[in-house]
Order: sequence, then C-alpha cells, then structure tokens
Amino acid sequence: MHLFDTHAHYDSGAFQADRTEVLSSMPGRGVELILNPGCDLESSRTAVALAEQFPFVYAAVGVHPSDCGDWEDGALEKLRELAGTAKVRAIGEIGLDYYWKDNPPRSLQQEVFRRQLELAQSLDLPVIVHDREAHQDCLSIVREYPQVRGVYHCYSGSLEDAKTLVKLGWMLSFTGVITYKNARKALEVIEWLPMDRIMIETDSPYLTPEPFRGRRNDSGYVHLVAEAIARVKGMEAGQAAQLTLENGKRFFNIKEA
Ligand code: NI
Repeated sequence: MHLFDTHAHYDSGAFQADRTEVLSSMPGRGVELILNPGCDLESSRTAVALAEQFPFVYAAVGVHPSDCGDWEDGALEKLRELAGTAKVRAIGEIGLDYYWKDNPPRSLQQEVFRRQLELAQSLDLPVIVHDREAHQDCLSIVREYPQVRGVYHCYSGSLEDAKTLVKLGWMLSFTGVITYKNARKALEVIEWLPMDRIMIETDSPYLTPEPFRGRRNDSGYVHLVAEAIARVKGMEAGQAAQLTLENGKRFFNIKEA
C-alpha cells in the first residue's frame, strides 16, 4: 500500500525516546508521506526541523486553539517566517475547541483563528482546521474567508456541514476514530463524500485505530483508516490508499515522491 498520513504529531513528547527510529521505519511500512502540523510556536519549529531531517516529512505551522492562551501579536510574524521555509505546506493546526473547560476563552480562540486564516490567505497556503464541539462558530468563521481553502481534520461534524464544506472547496480528513464502534455518523459522511475530497490521518500519538485502540499511535496504523474508508466506498484498500495519497499531494502541493 502507498499511504499518506496527513496529520501526525511527531514533535510530541510521546515520541521522545524513539522518534528517529519510528520515523525511519515508515517508508518500509508503506507510508510514503507524513505531514506534521504544529500546535504552538515551539512544536511548529520542531515540525519544520523534522521535515528538514526526513525527506518524506512535510510540515504545517500554527497555534492550536487549546494552546492560544498566551497568544501575542508577535506570534504571527514568527509563524510567517517559519511558513516561508521550503517544506511548510499549510497553516495548522488552527481552529476552535470548546470541549475542554479550561481552554482559553472562546473569544480569544476565535481571534487567534481569524488571524491565522488571514495569514494563510496572505501566504496563499491551505489551512488545517481543528473543530471540537464548535461546529457552528467554526464554519461561520471559515465562511468569512472564502479565498482560503483547507481541510477539517478528524472530521466530526454533520453530513449537512460536510456538504457545505465540499461546496466551499474544502477537504475532510479522517482518523482511526472511524474504526470505533460509535463511528456511524462519520461513516455516513464518508459514504456521501466524493472520493477526491477525502484524506486520511492518524493524529498520532492519539486516536489509535481498532484493534489497537489504547496503544500509542503512529503512522504505521494509517492503513487501518484506508481500509475503513475502502469498506464504506466498496473499493480495494490499496485503491483508497492511493486515492487519498494523491488527494493529499494535490492539497499540500507536494510534487516529489
Ligand atoms: Ni492534531
């Protein structure tokens, strides 16, 4: 299988002990490409460094809504600088997260989301959006920037919102969550979704697909997400892998590999 894990956090402390070893093993496990998004300035820098170290790793830079508590305007210039480096292909992950009670205030999350959408627009880069329990606000902010295209990572919204996003030219991406028992809603979205709008990801080290749920996740499990998509779409897993790989290369403007 030829796979593109479009969202994995190898900057995470969960890979402290064996990061190089795990990443080096990926080409041998069918994983041709990995995109590592940032969650704050430091992890964005690490993502860029990993992309420089591994030819098959690309990066996105951005500040995650859960990490925007100490946002200052200087951050935007630092992100802009990082975004100018060769292997940065998106601004992300950015968005809204209303799930955690101790997250930064919603008004601040929205402000930081808008500033980064503007940054993406000015750099002509796509965005990677994190939307947890914030579907309505997230979509309405996205609609304020019709020139920006992006992907909703780990899509958890409704079929109706998926139809709106597709109309706006966006992609949806899916994790191991679609292998869990309660995945019915996401599977309905996938059933409807045009194949050229689907990307796959692990969100490593989180969200390990069944039957390995509970273990640390890595890109070596992304084939299980391709297999789940293939089952819904009635195609071979290899074909789902290949199509989502091509979608990811097109979306992130990756010409090589
Ligand atoms: Ni993530």
